[in-house]
Amino acid sequence: MTESPLASPPPASPLVLVAGGSSAAGIAVARELLSAGMRVLTAGSDAGRITAAAEAAGGAVPLVCDLADPAAVEELARRIHADFGPLDGLIHLVGGWRGGSGLAGQSDADWDFLHTSVLTTLRNTTRAFHPDLTASPVGRLAIVSSTTVTAPTADNANYASVKAAAETWVQAVAQGFGSNAKNSSAAVVLVVKALVDPGMRERSPDRRFPGFTDVAELGRTATGLFSRPAGELNGARLILPTPSKKQGEQ
Ligand SMILES: NC(=O)c1ccc[n+]([C@@H]2O[C@H](COP(=O)([O-])OP(=O)(O)OC[C@H]3O[C@@H](n4cnc5c(N)ncnc54)[C@H](OP(=O)(O)O)[C@@H]3O)[C@@H](O)[C@H]2O)c1
Repeated sequence: MTESPLASPPPASPLVLVAGGSSAAGIAVARELLSAGMRVLTAGSDAGRITAAAEAAGGAVPLVCDLADPAAVEELARRIHADFGPLDGLIHLVGGWRGGSGLAGQSDADWDFLHTSVLTTLRNTTRAFHPDLTASPVGRLAIVSSTTVTAPTADNANYASVKAAAETWVQAVAQGFGSNAKNSSAAVVLVVKALVDPGMRERSPDRRFPGFTDVAELGRTATGLFSRPAGELNGARLILPTPSKKQGEQ
């Protein structure tokens, strides 16, 4: 697929929402987007945590919203449209991990938690902002998935299955983007084994974190999505580099 020559030029300063931006990953992603000149909104469920994260990122706009609540997400979209205009990018970071011993350890409570946190928040946010991302000349959706999706174990069956469902949802969004004549939007799955951040390194100075992806690398990759052609990205599953591996597609 190639970019349409009739596509509108990219906005000078794309408007990007980091959904679930309170964690170290959220801060790193918002920081990289800001340093590339983008306008960054960052949403979390707790006012104190998201305000601190927005400040730590260096000037993102904090927004409080329970992204698991569809009505709250619709209201968030109305606020964003009124105050900032349509979104160009949605970087979805709401996650969480739950595991247990074998299938017997895959509890209903953990399933409900993961389903709500990972999948419902993704479904709510993509449905609310789909028209924006479709209309934008650089519409980008990204999630961060896990290597466990292609190598699930009985101990993480709940987690791997919910992450697989999230990947499928993104592929469905990608199919919709790809069928749009404008063809300038892309939905992407970024894949890591685990994330490491400066706080983790500080708490365990002797640990090497093999196979982990630094949150700064995640931020750079998410930011780079806005300058790569949609045709090369839409539907891609990108394995993020670790210190010993280069980025590649699966
Ligand atoms: N960490 C890893 O090693 C790892 C490995 C593989 C994949 N990933 C994926 O990478 C992404 C980022 O990871 P992470 O560890 O930073 O994720 P995370 O901490 O689980 O989630 C990011 C933020 O989402 C916010 N959040 C949770 N529920 C919310 C809700 N209902 N509404 C709004 N915000 C909500 C939380 O902040 P508040 O509670 O303050 O709202 C949290 O700080 C996730 O998709 C994760 O699954 C991570």
